[in-house]
Amino acid sequence: MNPIFPSILSTKFFDLESRLSEFASNHIDFIHLDVMDGHFVDNISFGPATIPAIRSKFNFKFDSHLMVSNADKMIPRYIESGSDWISFHVEIKNHIQENIKTIKAHNRSAGLVVNPDTRIEAVFPFLERIDYVLLMSVFPGYGGQKFIKSTLDKVKKLRDQIDQSGSQCLIQVDGGIDDTNISELKKAGADLFVVGTFLYNSPRIKDTVDMILKKINGA
Ligand code: DX5
Ligand code: ZN
Repeated sequence: MNPIFPSILSTKFFDLESRLSEFASNHIDFIHLDVMDGHFVDNISFGPATIPAIRSKFNFKFDSHLMVSNADKMIPRYIESGSDWISFHVEIKNHIQENIKTIKAHNRSAGLVVNPDTRIEAVFPFLERIDYVLLMSVFPGYGGQKFIKSTLDKVKKLRDQIDQSGSQCLIQVDGGIDDTNISELKKAGADLFVVGTFLYNSPRIKDTVDMILKKINGA
């Protein structure tokens, strides 16, 4: 599985098809879909119909990052629309177990998302039941923000906890990732990297994908 998960939040809509074709020809497997409801974050982005629409032309897998207050209601919608992976925020607090069960019951991968100002211990009780933790290295809502350096310590702490507990949970990081921080993230123990602006706006996607993979594999 290619560890680079391009976020298409910075989409310039008329470039979307050409960007997706370049991702496909550069062996990208997953698209990271940033779903925003205008309530959990003050921005609105992609609805569930985005997945079948892109699937009508490309066979990417989808990793839907639900920045939504009403995850109970939205998770079934993204299951129905065919999202392969679905993550939701631990900050929503209620029905976390039930939401994980719903995702797993439909044979999808379940992830919990942790904001920069939430302690990483908040997800420890769920590590046996989820497939990945998405650590936000920016405050959710917008692409193109600056990487928050303290995320590296959270990655290390989570890595230790996963290794000690014997869980198979993967660590995904999201926000402000570029060539200046990706090697450190990999060294800290991250497995998967959501890259938006740095990749999406690159003049030569192939070179940028190759460079990122070199940094990940070389770390
Ligand atoms: C922010 C989103 C991130 C973001 C990543 O709320 O969750 O996926 O779009 O994009 P960059 O890499 O531009 O920070
Ligand atoms: Zn995201």
